Amino acid sequence: MAKRAFPLSKVYGLLEPGPVVLLTTAHKGRANVMTMSWHTMMEFEPPLVGCIVSGRHFSFDALVATRRCVLNIPTAELAAKAVNCGNSSGRRVDKFKTFGLTPAPAALVDAPLVAECYANLECAVVDTRWVNRYNFFVLEVLKAWIDPAAKDPRTLHHRGRGVFMVAGETIKLPSKMK
Ligand SMILES: Cc1cc2nc3c(=O)[nH]c(=O)nc-3n(C[C@H](O)[C@H](O)[C@H](O)COP(=O)(O)O)c2cc1C
Repeated sequence: MAKRAFPLSKVYGLLEPGPVVLLTTAHKGRANVMTMSWHTMMEFEPPLVGCIVSGRHFSFDALVATRRCVLNIPTAELAAKAVNCGNSSGRRVDKFKTFGLTPAPAALVDAPLVAECYANLECAVVDTRWVNRYNFFVLEVLKAWIDPAAKDPRTLHHRGRGVFMVAGETIKLPSKMK
């Protein structure tokens, strides 16, 4: 297999884990939603999720101030809305109204669920030690919701620069991982 050198600036697109999520926050009476693909599972139970939220984002301020958020998982039907939420700032726009997303009350946090997403994870920030260095937040999932009708959801996986893979075929193999 002949290979060519690959630009370092594009490496993230190779390892992009997905699924793309919509991170919601609520701060000073304003709900906001931002698109996020840089996240990773860190523990089974309680579920811990590490994620990068840039210090430039409106969501960063809300997350630091409230230490609460929801990770909402969209499917391909919401791709355009997800991109819009990732290309605009809650500082200037009410993204729920502008992009036609429905905020629904969460059980344990003030941040809203995005009703259109098939799964919603209510989270608390439990570790901020890498925020100054990497904008890396560790979240604990406190409560999780799922649409029981969702089978093999067509989640979005960002390959960089506006290119997405849509989850497709599901295969099952013996695995020692839980
Ligand atoms: C597909 C996609 C994935 C993104 N992933 C991240 C991410 O993981 N971390 C991040 O800080 N910003 C990410 N962004 C950028 C933010 O969503 C974007 O800057 C957004 O406007 C921030 O909104 P806010 O200012 O309302 O918080 C992503 C954008 C897109 C389109």
